[in-house]
Amino acid sequence: MGTFVLTGAASGIGAATRQRLIEADHTVIGIDLRDAEIVSDLGTADGRAAAIDGALKACDGVLDGLVTCAGVSAPASADTILGVNWFGTRDLCDGLRPALAASAGIAKVVAVSSNSTTLMPNLPEAAVDALFADDQPEALRLAQEGWDASSVAYGISKTAVARYVRRVSTTDPWAGAGIRLNAVAPGAIMTPLLQAGIDDPVQGQFIEAMAIPSGGFGQPDQIAQWIEFMLSDAADFMVGSIVFVDGGTEAVHRPDAWPQTYSL
Ligand code: NAI
Repeated sequence: MGTFVLTGAASGIGAATRQRLIEADHTVIGIDLRDAEIVSDLGTADGRAAAIDGALKACDGVLDGLVTCAGVSAPASADTILGVNWFGTRDLCDGLRPALAASAGIAKVVAVSSNSTTLMPNLPEAAVDALFADDQPEALRLAQEGWDASSVAYGISKTAVARYVRRVSTTDPWAGAGIRLNAVAPGAIMTPLLQAGIDDPVQGQFIEAMAIPSGGFGQPDQIAQWIEFMLSDAADFMVGSIVFVDGGTEAVHRPDAWPQTYSL
């Protein structure tokens, strides 16, 4: 049985994933603000360093997988959203990569992105670049110029996560080191995070305007099942994929957005 680090393990999609992994007899090292093996704030550099240190000690330097569920959206501040969603994902992936490479089998990482990556309009591309350049103040400044700072920060952070997966998953330190890095991009899943968005005046309008062809919001376990699958041997040949599980919202709003044809 495997040993997995799971951020955001205390609630929603993370809690549902935790339950599945434990039921399958895996060892779960949860990281969260509360109710977890490692209590740490992934929104701060110190908190992220402590979480990585604690996780490496807890797994004795060898990990079979990582899931980065910890995330926030409006009404959290734009700065907190960038810190938790982007740096809390990127730093944990980078910091735990050596332990993943030490796995006896093919290690798996599932990052949690979002269908906001393709659905949210007018996201400043330069802000994604700023996040990759570790320039949180510049990304924040650009988010604050947008139509709603927290919403834009959320879209930027989740786009950066998806792009990170696309860019690094194929490289020698990842695919070449026996680690499969992929992302799941959920749609509207009924959790405390979604409820907070529904209750927020700006986000609430956005969520209400979303079509969900499957009918209604999804449930956390409907994402946890995919995460469990993407941690299994089924993902041995899966590299850099962004798996949308959103009841059809993305497809119905932007059917031709991707895949795109291109010319040489
Ligand atoms: P949730 O609010 O139920 O769970 C999020 C967890 O992250 C909580 O346990 C929370 O304590 C933890 N967390 C928040 N800030 C933290 C911090 N600074 N340090 C450590 N842990 C922290 O939310 P949900 O919906 O389960 O979200 C899980 C992931 O799925 C998030 O990354 C979210 O952005 C993403 N997602 C959720 C969607 C939804 O509709 N619920 C849609 C698309 C993506």
